[in-house]
Amino acid sequence: RDGAALVIAIDGPAASGKGTLAKRLALHYGLPHLDTGLLYRAVALTLIDADADLDDAGAAARAAADLSAERLSDPRLRERAMGEAASRVSSVPEVRAALLSWQRRFADGPDGAVLDGRDIGTVVCPAARVKLFIVAAPEERARRRHRELLGRGEEATLAAILADIRARDARDSSRAAAPLKVAEDAVVLDTTELDADAAFAEAVAIVERLRSR
Ligand code: DC
Repeated sequence: RDGAALVIAIDGPAASGKGTLAKRLALHYGLPHLDTGLLYRAVALTLIDADADLDDAGAAARAAADLSAERLSDPRLRERAMGEAASRVSSVPEVRAALLSWQRRFADGPDGAVLDGRDIGTVVCPAARVKLFIVAAPEERARRRHRELLGRGEEATLAAILADIRARDARDSSRAAAPLKVAEDAVVLDTTELDADAAFAEAVAIVERLRSR
């Protein structure tokens, strides 16, 4: 790859604010952005639409191998239940392997790219010069996700969302295949006390520091 391409790898737990940050960084640097959680959500939705069991590893692997780009814009992917379903299919190694080449092709574009997920800095783009790991307290993440869901007209209690978040943290961090963990050369950004603009300003400062290292 030539030295001009800028790959920004952003990881973190559910509802940490990494998606919002990734979108804004992509706009700021003029880079394409891939929300990799959508790939796992699309695999889960394919199984649900086919009435298949979410724990059917073979069916999940086939859905991942056959995934088409059009599926990624299905509005149902953003629903609360999809996050949980995606987390379940994402522990299947064959699913992860099928989605890996897709993500790498995206990251290997001529200008670079911004990718956000759970294993971008550790597995998908281990050579990325810029790696951010976004964290926030579970209670704050639950409040943000609650507001977001209400804004889209989806009803859910704060307590139920907090329980979701804790369950997803546990599953995403403890799975054997590419678990959620901080890459050695990532910078951790805690957004608990930051609003979206302050988090963005911090993230840009970190990117500027890391891209020249
Ligand atoms: O970021 P998200 O909430 O849309 O992700 C949904 C699930 O997909 C998440 O709980 C775990 C899985 N996932 C993953 O295993 N690896 C990624 N790079 C992105 C998402």
